[in-house]
Amino acid sequence: MNILLLGAPGAGKGTQAELLQKKHGWTWLSTGDMLRRLAGQMTPEKAHIERLCAIMAEGRLIPDYLMVMLLEEELQRPCYEKGFILDGFPRTDTQVWQLEKMLSEKDKKLDAVILLTVDEKAVLARIEGRRSCPKCRAGYHLTTQPPKKKGVCDKCGTALMQREDDTAKTLTRRLEVFRIQTAPILPHYKRGDLLTEISGTRSVQQVFAEIEKALRAIKKKRKT
Ligand code: AP5
Ligand code: MG
Repeated sequence: MNILLLGAPGAGKGTQAELLQKKHGWTWLSTGDMLRRLAGQMTPEKAHIERLCAIMAEGRLIPDYLMVMLLEEELQRPCYEKGFILDGFPRTDTQVWQLEKMLSEKDKKLDAVILLTVDEKAVLARIEGRRSCPKCRAGYHLTTQPPKKKGVCDKCGTALMQREDDTAKTLTRRLEVFRIQTAPILPHYKRGDLLTEISGTRSVQQVFAEIEKALRAIKKKRKT
């Protein structure tokens, strides 16, 4: 299946994408992770990458033309053929129609769009406590999902990192950007009868069970 996960910062998109990938073998494509990987390749001559880091650190969106170009290139990789979980794209109207164009050119479509809703007040604690593995991308939280050994990834032993944009100040901007630029794309998916809204405020496992239930219902509907 090709799944799109939508939701505000900290809604749990990455957490759920990791679980879906593990269970079903669909490839998780996070545009945020993709950009952070690119930023990690920064060299003095790559001034455009430096600009990209500054935009992300401020919590603003990368320009559509650049984002579309990067995603188009990424989607060429064979790993996405068996199904994908798109996390963080689209975030603007332009990205919505560019994604549709990209998929239809490959004779593909989205099978499900899951919107994870979350109380903005609960998000700050999630964001400030988030840690992630730069090597295998496993996600943690200092209190709700701590690693067995402090600061070290359970899966590959790499030192965990905190994202540069995970500060209270940047989160306020990211939430505002979500409300102003991304929330307006939701009616498009509601109209297409593709969208399932799931509360992301319950435990990770409860949210995962709800997503699985929604995906089973979609598969069943397709068969009838
Ligand atoms: P991106 O990396 O996509 O960040 P985001 O949208 O702000 O979302 P987050 O990754 O913060 O939240 P999440 O929903 O994945 O939450 P998670 O599962 O980790 O984008 C970063 C930046 O890149 C953007 O600001 C922009 O600059 C740029 N960018 C990316 N895509 C772009 C695009 N298409 N166009 C333009 N620019 C783009 O969970 C968070 C924490 O909560 C974790 O610690 C987790 O353990 C915990 N948690 C998760 N679920 C639960 C639960 N149910 N209960 C308790 N704790 C939970
Ligand atoms: Mg994420």
